[in-house]
Amino acid sequence: MDLGLSDKRVLVLGASKGLGQAIALAMVAEGATVMAAARSVERIEAWRGALPPEAAARVSVHEVDLAEIASVDRLVDAVLAAGGANVLINNGGGPAPGGVVGTPTEAWNKGFASMAASLFHLTDRLIKPMIEKRWGRIVTIGSSGIEQPIPNLAISNAIRASVAGWSKSLANEVAEHGITVNMVLPGRVATERVESLDQNRASKTNQSIDAVRLQSRAEIPAKRYGTPEEFAAVVTFLAGTPASYVTGSMIRVDGGAIRSI
Ligand SMILES: NC(=O)c1ccc[n+]([C@@H]2O[C@H](COP(=O)([O-])OP(=O)(O)OC[C@H]3O[C@@H](n4cnc5c(N)ncnc54)[C@H](OP(=O)(O)O)[C@@H]3O)[C@@H](O)[C@H]2O)c1
Repeated sequence: MDLGLSDKRVLVLGASKGLGQAIALAMVAEGATVMAAARSVERIEAWRGALPPEAAARVSVHEVDLAEIASVDRLVDAVLAAGGANVLINNGGGPAPGGVVGTPTEAWNKGFASMAASLFHLTDRLIKPMIEKRWGRIVTIGSSGIEQPIPNLAISNAIRASVAGWSKSLANEVAEHGITVNMVLPGRVATERVESLDQNRASKTNQSIDAVRLQSRAEIPAKRYGTPEEFAAVVTFLAGTPASYVTGSMIRVDGGAIRSI
């Protein structure tokens, strides 16, 4: 299937590793021009350096810290100067693990600023040219915790639910302009973040990391973690032209982990 991405400019946030890197690579494979952003630009340079020269030439590297609104604005200025983005992949880091009880106000505010407000602000600036062109795709990476809160990930559960409300509201406002707005919810996809969360659980429960992984896999109907490439394939489809009538949706990529219908 031709996803119609070869003439599109795609901004991928959180592109230095994990899900964001896999999404950026999948977009490059579809022929898109990719603006890859994160704090560690050297990690983006590293994966870009491994691409064939023709593909590497379609990737630009951008530094951004989603916790700093001035940094977000600098990125948006650079993207607009390059002609804007036709596709926006809202992705970034997850918060430290922890429960609801005892989480200080400062941590809630910090989480909201970097995981929600910065994405709302950036999207608002980039969506105006999409409206003018009457075409756009906004895909925001969430978490299975939006539909089934994950124990010991209180900040993620709470703030991503707010992002889901924002995404659905935005979808309703811009659908008539040819812009789709969707979320994709990872369950457990094997990345550095999942590795560090497993490590955290192992230390907290006095188990080996292998025991934690075994238990975690056993709870997933697919009996395994997903790969970043499996996740990226769904995001790339939603970003493409054929997915033009999918909007306001939350798509699970979780091996069946969310138990509700
Ligand atoms: N993997 C899963 O199964 C899973 C499940 C549920 C939810 N999620 C969520 O999905 C998102 C991506 O997951 P992942 O597993 O790929 O995580 P990851 O391996 O930790 O990668 C996170 C990406 O976000 C970037 N990032 C982190 N903080 C940032 C900041 N302040 N400003 C700009 N970029 C920042 C990181 O790059 P730099 O450090 O270079 O900035 C990196 O590229 C995370 O929010 C995660 O919580 C993942």
